Amino acid sequence: MRKETIAIRGQIERSQYNEHAVPLYLTSSYIFEDAEDMRSQFAEEKPGEIYSRYANPNVQELLNKVALLEGGESAWATASGMAAVFTTFATFLSAGDEIVSSRSVFGSTHRLLVDVFPKWNIKNTYVDFNNYLAYESAITDKTKLVYIETPSNPALDLIDIERLAAICKSKGVLLVVDNCFATPIMQQPIKWGADLVIHSTTKFMDGQGRTLGGLIVSSKELIEKVKAFARHSGPAMSPFNAWVISKSIETLDVRMERHCKNALEIAKRLSTLSGISWVKYPFLSSHPDYEIAKKQMSAGGGLVSFELAGGLESGRQFLNKLNLFSLTANLGDTRSIATHPASTTHSKLSPEQRHEVGISDGLIRLSIGLENIEDIWDDVFQACQG
Ligand SMILES: Cc1ncc(COP(=O)(O)O)c(C=O)c1O
Repeated sequence: MRKETIAIRGQIERSQYNEHAVPLYLTSSYIFEDAEDMRSQFAEEKPGEIYSRYANPNVQELLNKVALLEGGESAWATASGMAAVFTTFATFLSAGDEIVSSRSVFGSTHRLLVDVFPKWNIKNTYVDFNNYLAYESAITDKTKLVYIETPSNPALDLIDIERLAAICKSKGVLLVVDNCFATPIMQQPIKWGADLVIHSTTKFMDGQGRTLGGLIVSSKELIEKVKAFARHSGPAMSPFNAWVISKSIETLDVRMERHCKNALEIAKRLSTLSGISWVKYPFLSSHPDYEIAKKQMSAGGGLVSFELAGGLESGRQFLNKLNLFSLTANLGDTRSIATHPASTTHSKLSPEQRHEVGISDGLIRLSIGLENIEDIWDDVFQACQG
């Protein structure tokens, strides 16, 4: 089956009621037939759900579907995207190990790398997002994994996954790619050599701003390791969220088509305005890594970033003038959303530190929704007028 069909028809077998849509299995545990059934399920000699922190039919249905969409063998679901990031690090790293990470990563991932993991003597080395030689030299005997986002949040920097995967393979380290901005509809990192893919389903996969969730997709062998850690540490996705997200994925392809079409149009129109220093969108030929975008993505995604010439104050003024756009800490929603990272998510960094992670003071991140393109543009245009 092709991806559009998998997203809709990748359903588990039906219950005795022969329902058309997937039913919701809200149960925290499952009944054993007798003592021997209970023993053999715990001993993993016989398959069985046992307990919803271990397994649940709704979560499994979502996992099967997403593993197929990402071209992986297996997957694991978590309560949020950050739980997926943490679970991946915690599964594959021990005290004394090292991470090499792209400098251009989501704020909470940055906090894990600089505040949380050093507590367990796990060191991170940042590398400029597309300096491939720097990745090679940053990887030491202690490095266990390389972590990247492409496109990155919020700078929309791109990394050639195939090129970096070849470096990681030659050094014997795992490559982990946060594929949240592209979704498997537009980019499949495993196809380009990545070992693990991370998602915050809170974004485009739910796509309607209702649930939190995270996913890890990989080979059977690596997901068995994730499972061994996650089953007992407990970052499980709720069956209800899995049910909502799985249903949402049925429309992911058509939603992404419209997100990408609207975002490209807004990026093109913004590029013609005065008072804008630059516009960044992966499928805009002016993007520094346009060739990488064309190679590994089938469309540019739903996010556009741009820089207002007037810096921090113009960024705040732009947000205050918006009428249609929501000012909210999310992205990948049917509703268009605007954020100003320098005064919000990245306000605790110094201007120099922000510059290092590609966030200038006037940078605005737009998550372009599914509203009519002219209504979206009218709002952006009027808010850009000084
Ligand atoms: C690229 C990226 N990865 C991970 C996350 C974390 O996801 P969650 O908010 O579901 O924990 C986010 C959230 O904004 C994100 O943008």
